[in-house]
Amino acid sequence: MDKDRVILPIKDIPTKWYNVAPDMPDPMLPPLHPATKKPLGPKDLAPIFPMSLIMQEMSQDRWIDIPDEVLEVYKIWRPTPLQRAVRLEKALKTKSRIYFKNESVSPAGSHKLNTAIAQAYYNKKEGVKRLCTETGAGQWGSALSFACNILGLKCTVYMVKASYYQKPYRKSLMHVWGAEVFPSPTNLTKCGKAMLAQDPDSPGSLGCAISEAVEDAATHDDAKYALGSVLNHVLLHQTVIGLETQKQLKLIGEKPDILIGCVGGGSNFAGFCVPFVPDKLKGKDIRMIAIEPAACPTLTKGVYAYDYGDSAGLTPLVMMYTLGCNFMPTAIHAGGLRYHGAAPMLSSLVKSGLIETRSYYQNPVFEAALLFARTEGMLPAPETAHAIKAAIDEAKKNEDKCIVFNYSGHGHFDLGAYDAYLEGKLQDYEHPEEKIKEALKKLPKVVL
Ligand SMILES: Cc1ncc(COP(=O)(O)O)c(C=O)c1O
Repeated sequence: MDKDRVILPIKDIPTKWYNVAPDMPDPMLPPLHPATKKPLGPKDLAPIFPMSLIMQEMSQDRWIDIPDEVLEVYKIWRPTPLQRAVRLEKALKTKSRIYFKNESVSPAGSHKLNTAIAQAYYNKKEGVKRLCTETGAGQWGSALSFACNILGLKCTVYMVKASYYQKPYRKSLMHVWGAEVFPSPTNLTKCGKAMLAQDPDSPGSLGCAISEAVEDAATHDDAKYALGSVLNHVLLHQTVIGLETQKQLKLIGEKPDILIGCVGGGSNFAGFCVPFVPDKLKGKDIRMIAIEPAACPTLTKGVYAYDYGDSAGLTPLVMMYTLGCNFMPTAIHAGGLRYHGAAPMLSSLVKSGLIETRSYYQNPVFEAALLFARTEGMLPAPETAHAIKAAIDEAKKNEDKCIVFNYSGHGHFDLGAYDAYLEGKLQDYEHPEEKIKEALKKLPKVVL
């Protein structure tokens, strides 16, 4: 067994996803109907999601079988390697051992495909013909385009307008896989039209693109909506990452001291970490650190409250850390981390004190990405580079620790961001307290 690059055979792809819901230290509060603000049931979600995913969303079963058809597609790139960053360790002169779980080897280049395939599969099984979604920088949109392509569904992507024009190559990839892609806000939906009436030059936001995709799905019988993060079933599908990591560490006789991941909506972090939650609850000393940008400090500066997942208030209200659904993050380069909320499941674990949180400015994050690229050779996505920065900071303490981080995606479509960093053009930005307070004033009033 090569201890620096642990490759599992295909037969070791997990055959069940792990659902942390029954093991949560604090019970989760129910999602609420956006109009009545009362707890919602499976039927309320049926216009936008297939019933099998709704049941997963609400499931208390600890283990959920991965269908054979999904496993068949996972075989294209799973199991993913667990690699030791030996050259990075040497450059840091650290006693720590640094490992990373390499999710960038998927066809779409990130972890997002783990749930895209599952969501496309369940929708297809229930007769859905088309999936609608939003995308920021394009990682999720390209993953869902691939999944729909391989499972024979149509795919409509509302891509935040600023990224549509600034980062055209992810859009090209979506086109290659047969999706239709619109710059959001569009004139195709009521929400989009309302945004354009307010500001015809609106650069768009993730919250607005979500509203457009949800409206499209809710108003077409043969279409449903797919979300790339935040929801329980998305986090569930991502647990293949942590479950494989557990097997790989065991094979080389390692026990993790520190687990690190970046957080946008929370799916790669949770999928990587939650399989270790039962060990932590049994008393094992494992630190889990969630990293976000200082420009979008949801977990470090947001409040734990009920809020909408989108800006038009069409999605259910969920209990989560939030900066307010009208929060407009500044245009940092880690587009996938610019979301006002965080997954309710992850939020609850943070609230219970099981997970540490930390934020970084983008310049030190790119500095860390460059050190990684110049030692290990791989170019990380700017989102992933947040996790790398934290792994480096932990390793610099020079302790005899096993540090493992999730390498959520590659940065081959983010070269513009790397150019900007190398030319010294990146601004460090911390979201001002007053702006956060202002956005939080508009939180929906909920009386349970
Ligand atoms: C490479 C990469 N990592 C991380 C994220 C953050 O998403 P999540 O928190 O759901 O894993 C994204 C989102 O687009 C991404 O593209």
